[in-house]
Amino acid sequence: MPLPPETESHQSTRLSRRRLFGYTAAGVGGALAGAGAVSAATALGGEPPADAVGRRTVAFHGAHQAGVTTPAQARAVFVGFGLRQGIDAAAVGRLMRLWTQDAAALTAGRAATADPAPALAERPAGLTVTFGFGPGLFTAIGRPEAVPAGFVPAPEFTIDRLDARWTGGDLLVQVCADDSLAVAHAVRVLVVGARPFASVRWQQSGFLPHAGVAPGATPRNLMGQVDGTANPAPENGLDEVVWSADGWLAGGTTMILRRIRMDLDTWDRVAPESQERAIGRRLSDGAPLSGGAERDTPDYAVRDHHGKLVIPADAHVRRASEQANGPGSGRILRRGYSYDDGVDATGQADCGLLFAAYQARFDSQFLPIQRRLAELDALNAWTTPIGSAVFAIPPGCQEGGWIGQGLLG
Ligand code: HEM
Repeated sequence: MPLPPETESHQSTRLSRRRLFGYTAAGVGGALAGAGAVSAATALGGEPPADAVGRRTVAFHGAHQAGVTTPAQARAVFVGFGLRQGIDAAAVGRLMRLWTQDAAALTAGRAATADPAPALAERPAGLTVTFGFGPGLFTAIGRPEAVPAGFVPAPEFTIDRLDARWTGGDLLVQVCADDSLAVAHAVRVLVVGARPFASVRWQQSGFLPHAGVAPGATPRNLMGQVDGTANPAPENGLDEVVWSADGWLAGGTTMILRRIRMDLDTWDRVAPESQERAIGRRLSDGAPLSGGAERDTPDYAVRDHHGKLVIPADAHVRRASEQANGPGSGRILRRGYSYDDGVDATGQADCGLLFAAYQARFDSQFLPIQRRLAELDALNAWTTPIGSAVFAIPPGCQEGGWIGQGLLG
């Protein structure tokens, strides 16, 4: 007899540290291990059902939108939209009602309104849909005063080589799941629903390891680094870092998506010891170069026998971390996905990181970190930001409500 789909709450308060870092994306084992459900299958004494990953659902309704503190699924597609001419607050409200209804259905494993392929909705695979509002939306709806405090357009940094193809946008749809088909179907439904209101400006797809990864393991990025270790966890301030308490945005957050290209050809020619110094952590296990294990606190004062800092002055983690730069120097929640789009017209590998960061306040949390990294970061020799877009992510909604109601309702 098939097991009922397992529904997880996406409330961060119910996430263990292990779940948060656990990147469920670890196939059947990972998805089940974190979900606490497993137990359903294993307690019955047999193998987990073959379609357990496909049938897993994550609750859509709640105080916060899912897909932010929800452990990162294996696949993500980010879609940026431009509003059509003449779309006003009432029209955006209509779109958000439709999108909310469709997202609530799809994430629960049900077909959307006028679903072109209802069978594809049956395996949501931990699907989450997260909506965001770009700076231009506030102008379009005639509500400049509703721009959240500190939600300023991201400046172009000296390291940036931004391409309009990956930059800006009035609306964001972020779709994540442990299965590409579930993601593609949800994106298709939401893009079609948006057509009378908005057109797609860009679409970016990313991935994480999704099979054979130990539950709780931090994933690696395309440079081979263990990436995600020092993210805030529920027991060390996750809620304060991420969730806003400001006006209509209360229970929501802000998000920046940076498309950061990696020059892997030159990176691959760098000696492993130099690669480790560029980050400040070991390649083998992600432990700080100052010693200990992956999750141990780095010691930024330690020097080697030549008197040189073991975690160099320009190491990425030293420049990025609040610990090294003092209280108030910025904390964010990172949710990075690798991208690999083959080769470009010049034959160069077109790959890198879709760097997504969430923070209650954009100007005082994200910007100071990015400014420091733009000024000095050893990683800059092999990475180039080529896209950048910021969004306010409204709070979640309860059944009967809709995303964005606090602003548009
Ligand atoms: C391709 C670009 C990037 C790569 C490959 C990368 C890689 C890494 C790695 C391997 C770590 C150490 C492990 C960890 O704690 O996750 C790390 C830490 C971190 N990164 Fe990045 N990163 C990139 C871009 C950025 C950007 C654009 C920002 C923010 C503007 C950022 C902010 C941070 C922060 C805040 C930490 C944690 C520092 C700490 O508290 O120890 N990173 N990154």
